[in-house]
Amino acid sequence: MANDYITKKLQPFGSSIFAEMTKMANDNNAINLSQGFPDFDGPEFIKKAACEAIMAGHNQYANTFGVPALRAAISAKYKKFYGLDYNPETEISILAGATEAIFTTITSIINEGDEVILFEPYYDSYPVSVTMAGGVCRYITLEFPDFKIDFEKLQKTINAKTRMIVLNTPHNPTGKVFTSDELETLGKIAKKHDLIIMSDEVYEHITFDGTKHIPTATIEGLRDRTITISSTGKTFSMTGWKIGTVCAPAKISAAVRTGHQYVIFAVANAFQHAMVKGFEAPDSFYKELLDFYAKKRDFMAKTLTDCGFKIVMPKGSYFIMADFTNFGFDNDVEFCKYLTSEIKVAAIPPTSFYYNKKYGEKLVRFAFCKKEETLAMAAVRLSGLVKKPVSAGAAR
Ligand SMILES: Cc1ncc(COP(=O)(O)O)c(C=O)c1O
Repeated sequence: MANDYITKKLQPFGSSIFAEMTKMANDNNAINLSQGFPDFDGPEFIKKAACEAIMAGHNQYANTFGVPALRAAISAKYKKFYGLDYNPETEISILAGATEAIFTTITSIINEGDEVILFEPYYDSYPVSVTMAGGVCRYITLEFPDFKIDFEKLQKTINAKTRMIVLNTPHNPTGKVFTSDELETLGKIAKKHDLIIMSDEVYEHITFDGTKHIPTATIEGLRDRTITISSTGKTFSMTGWKIGTVCAPAKISAAVRTGHQYVIFAVANAFQHAMVKGFEAPDSFYKELLDFYAKKRDFMAKTLTDCGFKIVMPKGSYFIMADFTNFGFDNDVEFCKYLTSEIKVAAIPPTSFYYNKKYGEKLVRFAFCKKEETLAMAAVRLSGLVKKPVSAGAAR
């Protein structure tokens, strides 16, 4: 029965698929390759810095826009990696993870009736945030297996009410990393129609095969209309600390900061001080992160291919999308239930990332941000999947 305490805006969304699948994994004693959190700890030097920050007395409310030393460190990072200049006083803010950054950005900028373009599959909090703001979502599908943007469709979808395009690169769940050509074409469209771009780049430091992450704000003419969101949770394997970053021109930052003051006010003080140390990590840290995840990606890709999944090799992020049609299930939810309860491996049914569900019905998302032994055990269990025999009729 519907819960009428939930507002009409929130009713369509129900509980998060991540919470649901993690619960199902626990209830079934399954290996959890559903939710995108590492099953290993973040670096010792950052943990030690957190203990020191607590003992040094950083235990009261932090500066509402973020600890100044952390904002300065983030400014230096954007300059060093991408040549982007952000003023830490006015253009960089620390929010409670990318999740708060997404929600606060959208609810601070989108008015009732404004339209927001979302590419599907999308991160599940985008449509919720747009809807809570009173905005209207417009969807453009990135279709398996190449996940290309249909620019013609995008042009046709834009109208006088369109205010924002939401982009996610590297992309969860497909592993796509948007190319400079794609970003330039998108940028031309955004400029032509005077649109804001919210660019979710939480996996910016996880790309493979020499693929370079291109921040949307580095595309000519886009810095002044782009809000870049990132998360220390992904880069430093500390998802539980919920430290997210928002970089945007001063006027847009002021809007986001206004919302943030009334949602969270300030992010955990000691953890922000500790994260300053994270940003002091040498270049070798980022290289090791890539090698570390590349091995896991390769292992998981081989496991899935050997079992009979059709996969798209991810260029970034720590997810793989796979087609399960060889196993003969009707839809992704049914397949994931079977996978969790019988094979004892939990994964995400990705229709929860689509408005046009038919595009995700034969797909499943696996997270490979897990220990070697977790992935090895999952491989043993997944080898128990049995391919559906091709019928005589189909074979002919
Ligand atoms: C694309 C994307 N954006 C945002 C988030 C949320 O990040 P955080 O944990 O910092 O709130 C995630 C987490 O999985 C994500 O995959």
